[in-house]
Amino acid sequence: MSPSIYSFLFLQLISMNQVASKSKVRSFPEGFVFGASTSAYQIEGGAFDDGKALSIWDVASHEKPSPIKDGSTGDVSANSYHFYKRDVEIMKDLGLDFYIFSVSWPRILPDGFTNNVNKGGIDFYNKLIDEMIYNNIKPFITMYHWDLPVQLQKLGGWTNPYIADWFKDYASVLFENFGDRVKHWITINGPSEICNDGYGSDLLPPTLNMTGIGGYMCAKNVLLAHASAYHLYDEMYREHQNGTIGIALNFTWFEPTSDNPDDHHATWDAKQFLFGAYAHPIFTKEGDFPEEFKRSVAAKSAEQGFKRSRLPELTAAEVTAIRGSSDFLGFNSYTTKMVYRDASIEGMYPVPSYMDDMGAVIVKDSTWPQSQSDWLQEVPWGFYKMLQEVSRLYDNPPIYITENGWSTSGGLLDEDRIRYLRNYLSALLDAIDAGCNVQGYSVRSMIDSFEWRDGYTAKFGLYEVDFSNEDRSRTPRKSAFIYKEIIRSKLLDPHYEPEVYLEEVPENEEKKDDYIYKK
Ligand code: NOJ
Repeated sequence: MSPSIYSFLFLQLISMNQVASKSKVRSFPEGFVFGASTSAYQIEGGAFDDGKALSIWDVASHEKPSPIKDGSTGDVSANSYHFYKRDVEIMKDLGLDFYIFSVSWPRILPDGFTNNVNKGGIDFYNKLIDEMIYNNIKPFITMYHWDLPVQLQKLGGWTNPYIADWFKDYASVLFENFGDRVKHWITINGPSEICNDGYGSDLLPPTLNMTGIGGYMCAKNVLLAHASAYHLYDEMYREHQNGTIGIALNFTWFEPTSDNPDDHHATWDAKQFLFGAYAHPIFTKEGDFPEEFKRSVAAKSAEQGFKRSRLPELTAAEVTAIRGSSDFLGFNSYTTKMVYRDASIEGMYPVPSYMDDMGAVIVKDSTWPQSQSDWLQEVPWGFYKMLQEVSRLYDNPPIYITENGWSTSGGLLDEDRIRYLRNYLSALLDAIDAGCNVQGYSVRSMIDSFEWRDGYTAKFGLYEVDFSNEDRSRTPRKSAFIYKEIIRSKLLDPHYEPEVYLEEVPENEEKKDDYIYKK
């Protein structure tokens, strides 16, 4: 059978399967856990409270002109720093098994280093963790979700090789203070965004834009920092704290635009550059950066007159330290993109740059349902394929879906989020049926938050946050009721309608939505 007929039949089978699985009630496996996730800068606020120092996001969001779409900042955001008890009520109401939040490094270590530990920061996370434990919610802590202390950025941030030690020391403070109650650790969230967007381009802070160089230095140091925290836990804490520790990587599914071998190669390259660069060194038996990735950057570097590859080498000892340094794979995945090779790519990207090294053009298919975020379309079959591919390439690791979700422009009746959620959960069940070792699912986000460069224009929350009122009141969207029922019943029932009804808000009441929920 020719590859094209084969892939056509394969796609047909997936879609037939999806039609069948969409209409029936399906159950989640025994022991499967549900959560929701957020991150410090996106929800906490309290940006200048109780000894917290500035992170690179505090600085970036205050730049003039603002790099943020609506000119907003995370200074107050959903104010979870003060309203954390309300957040825990929501976790409880949803029936979450676990909740992923991140710790702000400059709230714990204002200067980045352990000579100055901020008691205000330790107290805040202790209160949050205790409140969660009291309510039976398991805390999953992300140690780093993009808010680097400014003091460390001055020293080069993720391009300084000493950051592996700085991160290890920071991790030791977290294990010491919280490890008695926290049994799930995620070292670093989204290395490819940290490195490609922050150092290899100017999309995110610190916007170094050291294209083709900064991102690769960052990649090596992120891997080493992750591995040092992992080994520290393993050697000093695991025995008496009994937890697990992993990393959260971003996985966008890449689909070739045609059966042309060039497009297939381009697709493979995109995968290697954007997630293989991090997953291969940690989750394969041989470790190290993927061969194709090393080869492409080395060849381009030589052509461009560099004396050595712009991708720093991992020494044998580093390969060994990184290999196997994760108890589970944190899987952040939202969408799919189409990929092709274009011979006339020259001039399309800066030289040198990772995009130029990769030599692939990545585009979206405008026929797919579009969210409020430009980059996010609903493609559940891509989620299914992504899970299959990761399980195949990386030795079927235990997977937690650490992030998956949908953005709207607001409003409580979020039927499109519900459709996305159901379709992706159904694809997840298909992946489990096909043998993927997925142990839990965390929706993003529990509440609306500061969505990085999109500010507050893209709403990811199951709960709407009213950013215009001081209480930052949180109101469940319809999707919250649907998710709650999925967690309660451990069933995915495509026909379930929550037992709540909608009532029109009286005209004189100031509310931006036309409806409120009434029980
Ligand atoms: C991934 C990031 O980790 C998270 O912070 C962000 O909110 C989502 N993408 C959606 O953009």
